[in-house]
Amino acid sequence: MLHYKELGLVNSRELFQKAIKGGYAIPAFNFNNLEQLQAIISACVETKSPVILQVSKGARKYANQTLLQYLAKGAVEYAKELGYSIPVVLHLDHGDSFETAKSCIESGFSSVMIDGSHLSYEENVKLTKQVVDFAHQYDVTVEGELGVLAGIEDEVSSAHSHYTQPEEVEDFVKRTGVDSLAISIGTSHGAFKFKVKPGELPPPLRFDILEEVEKRIPGFPIVLHGASSVPQDIVAEINKYGGKLDDTAGVSEDQLRRAASSAVCKINIDSDGRLAMTAAIRKVFAEKPGEFDPRNYLGPARDKLKELYKHKIEHVLGSINKA
Ligand code: G3H
Ligand code: 13P
Ligand code: ZN
Repeated sequence: MLHYKELGLVNSRELFQKAIKGGYAIPAFNFNNLEQLQAIISACVETKSPVILQVSKGARKYANQTLLQYLAKGAVEYAKELGYSIPVVLHLDHGDSFETAKSCIESGFSSVMIDGSHLSYEENVKLTKQVVDFAHQYDVTVEGELGVLAGIEDEVSSAHSHYTQPEEVEDFVKRTGVDSLAISIGTSHGAFKFKVKPGELPPPLRFDILEEVEKRIPGFPIVLHGASSVPQDIVAEINKYGGKLDDTAGVSEDQLRRAASSAVCKINIDSDGRLAMTAAIRKVFAEKPGEFDPRNYLGPARDKLKELYKHKIEHVLGSINKA
């Protein structure tokens, strides 16, 4: 058993309470490799923002469990070396079983998500409670989910979303003991969230559902998944340099700013980072076909990612100067 405190990490409890009171959201950025981690940490240090480093089951397999522990420890030390110590949470994104959550808790994660949203309500309660009972022995915080998001994530995919039913949340939170709850109010996973004609805005989020949820569990930390905005300038850059991403649209940043000022205190962003890296790498390859040193295309990708994360922190989530 490697406890997260030995790695210098924190759980999400206190961060969420501060975020709800302060009307901002903590960034939850996914990472799979060194450059993404460097970009996240340097962006958060420069903006003095707390951060949740998210690892999906697929990312855990990709990056290797042992390396991940050292990367997380390294991230905490790297932040200090950059001149400012920020709270860092290492979080399992979309945990699909008790065994995966347990294994993460035993190897240094400070927070886990157990995603039983695709199960029946009673099975979701049972699985989530099992993970909470184990996690809380080690002061690890747990995120559950009610409602289904459209889109694809690790082995969990759905063509259509099912909005969270507000009448279920109170019972779910009480019976499971979860520390935060992901809800479905119209976001979805991936870079192809909505089909929007040029000049049209993506559909608004269901703030009526969010407000109903907040009424039933006042002050309880709410999480938004699928919150990439699919920036059109980045998509245009990808297409300019040989990519082909048509008809893509994400959640508007105005909608996310509004959500962040409510009980939504964790906002998950992965796809926007993937797009930013791809745009930067494509540009290098298009402009310098002879380039073959990975540092010369992963470096620019890292710079573009960092710029994107700083923008999210300052202008969307509002977690700037909250560390
Ligand atoms: O919600 C899913 C995240 O974007 C992680 O994606 O399962 O492909 O690592 P992944
Ligand atoms: P995006 O695909 O919108 O970035 O969502 C990421 C996410 O929810 C990770 O759990
Ligand atoms: Zn997600």
